[in-house]
Amino acid sequence: TTPLRIALAGLGTVGSGVIRLINENGAMIAQRAGRPIEISAISARDRARDRGMDLSPYKWADDMNDFAADPGVDCVVEMIGGSDGPALDLARNSLKSGKSFVTANKAMIAHHGMELASLAEKQNLALKYEAAVAGGIPVIKGLREGASANRIERVYGILNGTCNYILTTMEKHGSDFDAVLKDAQDLGYAEADPSFDIDGVDAAHKLAILAALSFGKAVDFDGVEIAGIRDIVAADIGQAKALGYRIRLLGMARIDDGKLFQRVNPYLVPESHPLAHIDGSTNAVVAEGNFSGRLMFQGAGAGDGPTASAIVADLIDIARGDSGTVFAMPASKMAASERAESGNR
Ligand code: NDP
Ligand code: HSE
Repeated sequence: TTPLRIALAGLGTVGSGVIRLINENGAMIAQRAGRPIEISAISARDRARDRGMDLSPYKWADDMNDFAADPGVDCVVEMIGGSDGPALDLARNSLKSGKSFVTANKAMIAHHGMELASLAEKQNLALKYEAAVAGGIPVIKGLREGASANRIERVYGILNGTCNYILTTMEKHGSDFDAVLKDAQDLGYAEADPSFDIDGVDAAHKLAILAALSFGKAVDFDGVEIAGIRDIVAADIGQAKALGYRIRLLGMARIDDGKLFQRVNPYLVPESHPLAHIDGSTNAVVAEGNFSGRLMFQGAGAGDGPTASAIVADLIDIARGDSGTVFAMPASKMAASERAESGNR
């Protein structure tokens, strides 16, 4: 059987997790996918960096854009990060060269998802990004396939593992914000620039993607109102708790009178609500479908293992021959939505 030959761009938390997962579960994956997934080339910024694993079996590319022209590569996996720059160049070059593309990069999909989806769909190529939203939770598949028969009017949840880890650790142990952020970085949860996490931007990237999937409207990152958790102190958390609430950073999108409302903000969540009990780096996404009722997707939102699990699930789909639409409907049919006026949101 012909393997699916993949090239990995980025060998940090996520990239090294993907190598470990494929090495450990490769035989089972080959059975499920109907053919093996074979790592044929790798690339990162610093070839000399010790990554705690043997990389000698894989061909190293100094320039990851060589993947696009390499006849020995079927699919490129991007785990670098950044909405523009090398990640975007790689996505465009790979799709234009006929390679399918898997990414963990929510910033890039939030900013350039429509362009990349059009590129992929025109050529019937797969563009997959399960890992970009809520780490290991299969929420993209859940909404795109599982809930595709529903009119979804509201989607919301805890979309950033770093912030949830900070808030819930401060809540439990009264810890200092900066010290817990440092732990989240050491655990591999945070973005390369953690201000994306604590200022709510990362959650906004994910929310804009979820809204596009849920409502069939073009991704509108600029329409998200964003506030983060930078100014929350232990006393705020204690006071909320005394009143019967937990502070959680939530992303919330809904359609009001046909207009799109998207907001990321710290909210007071009553202790009786399931989102009040989502601890650590766990994420939870709630979608309300008009036939399915309330769906709640919950699981590890960050970290090497869960994120690698989502990436390799996408690769298994591609190995099985699924290209599919990128969002819940063809990108060419996803018109821009009117934004709800700020005062009415
Ligand atoms: P890391 O910082 O751990 O790894 C990034 C990798 O990209 C490194 O191997 C780095 O090379 C490489 N890299 C960075 N810049 C360049 C460049 N200019 N040219 C070539 N290679 C480059 O990040 P993560 O693994 O944590 O995240 C990767 C992506 O996955 C991001 O888009 C992130 O948002 C997303 N993501 C992360 C999750 C997580 O829990 N960490 C969860 C879900 C998504 P080198 O190692 O040589 O420095
Ligand atoms: N920095 C992100 C988070 C990684 O903390 O949720 C997962 O997308």
